[in-house]
Amino acid sequence: MKTTAVILAAGQGTRMRSALPKVLHPLLGRPMVRYSIDTVQKATGEKPVLVIGHAAEAVRQQVGEAADFVLQEPQLGTGHALQQAAARLRGQTDFILATTADMALFTVETYERLLAAHQERFARDPQGCPITLLSVISQDARGFGRVVRKPDGEVQAVVEEAQATPEVLALQELNTSVYCFTADWLWNALPRIPLSPKGEYYLTDLIGIAVSDGLSVQAVAVADPCEAIGINTRLHLAEAEAILRQRINQAWMLAGVSLIDPHTTYIEPDVIIGQDTVIWPNTYLHGSTRIGENCTIGPNSILRDTLVGDRCRVLVAVTEKAILENDVEIGPFARLRKGAHLANGVHMGNFGEVKNSYLGPGSKMGHVSYLGDTTLGAGVNIGAGTVTCNYDGKHKNKTEIGDHAFIGSDTMLVAPVTVGEGAVTGAGAVVTKNVPPHSLAVGMPARAIRKLKDSD
Ligand code: UD1
Ligand code: CA
Repeated sequence: MKTTAVILAAGQGTRMRSALPKVLHPLLGRPMVRYSIDTVQKATGEKPVLVIGHAAEAVRQQVGEAADFVLQEPQLGTGHALQQAAARLRGQTDFILATTADMALFTVETYERLLAAHQERFARDPQGCPITLLSVISQDARGFGRVVRKPDGEVQAVVEEAQATPEVLALQELNTSVYCFTADWLWNALPRIPLSPKGEYYLTDLIGIAVSDGLSVQAVAVADPCEAIGINTRLHLAEAEAILRQRINQAWMLAGVSLIDPHTTYIEPDVIIGQDTVIWPNTYLHGSTRIGENCTIGPNSILRDTLVGDRCRVLVAVTEKAILENDVEIGPFARLRKGAHLANGVHMGNFGEVKNSYLGPGSKMGHVSYLGDTTLGAGVNIGAGTVTCNYDGKHKNKTEIGDHAFIGSDTMLVAPVTVGEGAVTGAGAVVTKNVPPHSLAVGMPARAIRKLKDSD
């Protein structure tokens, strides 16, 4: 039988006090809404339907192909939101998994448990229990609706905090706003939700409707209350982010990665790290960063969309869209910008910046240098203070340096320019013309003054 998820994401999220729609606020680097999309897709095996309304275009753009969209306009409450999916899904699917985009921390297993509980009951009693809801037992009510049970344990109602009597307020079983419905029943019941005094249609009223029809509603409690953090304010956002971070960090530690101080280690969900790599404190691994085995990363490093091979050392560095092959060392105070590619065994020391450049195997750039739009051969030595002058005010020009060239300290390479294989530049050379292979060039502007003795 088929289950399709509907994710409610049309509300503005006024309590965030933000120009950005709530569901697009980043949670560990990804828009909040992506989390529920991914988890329900895995739990149901189907592309979910996302109900959008407030800032619909922005949400649609961020989500792209990952969901189908229905528009809720105007936004008249959670019941009204789910009803917008009726035209799309009626007759198409057997069960509806309804959830909200601001409950981002539920795991695939939790959704699967809810679906299994509903389907198991359905198999025994196809008409008797059209709703299974996911509850959480917690002393911290967080403004959630309270689940009221009958003496026999079945659910009687969900009462919103604003409507609750002191007795109901004291209940510790709370509604997470995640439900599995039998689809045929749902589509017929949604139009029966009454308008609330606040002018909204509450999805929670479906429980009362089922019960008054003499049907059962069952509740399954989430095993780990930490999953049930609804994000309504920026305080909740920070709380959710901390839990997610802890979850990711724990998974990497159990997978064989050492985190010296997990509390100051920020690893985004798509990052991959190899075994026996050690991450030192205050390190941020963003986006699609991948790190190989036996590396040492940090302290104080920020890597974004960076590929790092095995046995690399990254110390106090900031990298973005860069590649480090194996046995590469960078830092302290190294900056790799887009397109920096350091081949096997490259050493890049303190205060270096590399952009859109390839440094061949074993090349060294020890101190205070800038390489932009440059191709280096193997075994090149870049002296302290070397700068590629790659921008003439209009164009970015290329520098090429051959294998085993030795660039003297404080050389200015005025691109476009080529330094041949095995060539040497003197300290302070300003290289404006190509330097032939195996030649020594000095001065300003640098001229090749002689062929090197030990060359062929
Ligand atoms: C809701 C539940 C409450 C539950 C809590 C758990 C209702 C009436 N209340 O309250 O019982 O304890 O979730 O988190 O359902 N949305 C729309 N269209 C709308 C209104 C809301 O799509 O017209 C979406 C929002 O974008 C949000 C979700 O529905 O993702 C929940 O709305 P929200 O206003 O946050 O409901 P809560 O007050 O948290
Ligand atoms: Ca909410």
